[in-house]
Amino acid sequence: MTDIVLKKGLKDVYFDTTETSYIDGSVGKLLYRGYNIHDLAEKSTFEETMYLLLHGELPTTKQLESIKGQLADSLSLPEPVQEIIGHVKNAHPMDVLRTAVSALSSTDPEVSDNSEAATLRKGVRLTAQSLVAITSHNRIRDGKTPISADPSLSLAGNFLYTLHGERPTKEETELMDKDFILHAEHGSNASAFGARVAASTLADVHASITAGLGILKGPLHGGAAEAVMKMSQDIGDEANAGAYIKEKISAGGRVMGFGHRVYKAEDPRARHLREGCRQLGEKKGQPKWFRILSAVAEEMKPYGSKGIHVNVDFWSGAVYHLLGIPEDLFIPIFALGRVPGWTAQVLEQFADNILLRPLLQYDGPMDLEYIPLEKRG
Ligand code: SDX
Repeated sequence: MTDIVLKKGLKDVYFDTTETSYIDGSVGKLLYRGYNIHDLAEKSTFEETMYLLLHGELPTTKQLESIKGQLADSLSLPEPVQEIIGHVKNAHPMDVLRTAVSALSSTDPEVSDNSEAATLRKGVRLTAQSLVAITSHNRIRDGKTPISADPSLSLAGNFLYTLHGERPTKEETELMDKDFILHAEHGSNASAFGARVAASTLADVHASITAGLGILKGPLHGGAAEAVMKMSQDIGDEANAGAYIKEKISAGGRVMGFGHRVYKAEDPRARHLREGCRQLGEKKGQPKWFRILSAVAEEMKPYGSKGIHVNVDFWSGAVYHLLGIPEDLFIPIFALGRVPGWTAQVLEQFADNILLRPLLQYDGPMDLEYIPLEKRG
């Protein structure tokens, strides 16, 4: 048997090249198509960043207006999909979103067209339709009528508007928009890898994004923000943070919102949401969440020497909570932001495809004799 080098979890395994994002985990650097995440978070918009990820360059004014128009034209759901959401309204919102995206493949006229142009159009459509699926589900499960999107608002503005039924403030919209930018793309994370595996079989982008949605739900990936908010509520007051963290760690638990497979320095996305959490908490008269999370971050500082730092999900949960968003919508928000990134990676996979099919090292019994049932007792 040739010497097998087992890479459990595919840790440190490079399986292809990419131009969508660059991550240097040793220094906490992230670029989308060559542009620093700090510049994009502070100066760009989700729509502009989406165009950048999908097309590989920042849009001109005309190109930006065009993608905004495509999004505005897709801010609704076909009736059959809306009905399906009604039938599954009691499921977790992430399961409802996954079901809705799957169902949208039955109404999309281009579903089987894996060309670059069709995949681009479908990825943009699915971003807008995912927004509507999330917020209309939330209204339906509360016994309310879904709110039609306002085409004059951005995606971030429409997310909050169709969720709450009132137009968000400029600050709220800007923070939501920044959050979508920060979640838009992140290399071969588990859900993007899953989307690429689906695309590598030449399944369509609806199938690939459905795969990504299923994977993102896990608490070790997209589910962390929901878990961080629950942790903050359990802690209750910053004075309790030290004992809580010590107990969690000594029990061998994971502190949600900390650690990362790639970042061994601070996740560069986290600071943008930290500031948003502080400012929004002050504005809403709820500084406690920022204080509790700051106390947790202080308690976790010694683990920085082991490469365990705050990640993107640590502050985002408190930001969503302060924006009045129910906790079980935190993962769908992450998913909505990530649809452009998944789509960009599906396009890359299609462009230079090879079936993704790793190996497992067999360590079970070999060449056993088959015993007929009558002799097995
Ligand atoms: C995202 O990959 C991406 O890019 C993902 C993402 C994206 O944008 O798509 O960045 C989004 O998923 C962010 C991560 C959100 N998840 C969490 O916050 C959950 C908590 N984090 C951990 O479960 C963990 O850090 C992972 C899963 C994120 C990464 O784990 P790894 O790389 O598999 O590392 P590991 O579990 O083997 O841990 C290595 C060591 C262990 O100690 P030892 O057993 O070797 O002594 O670090 C410790 C772990 O115990 N450790 C932690 C810890 N994370 C790692 N200890 C306490 N708390 C933690 N959070």
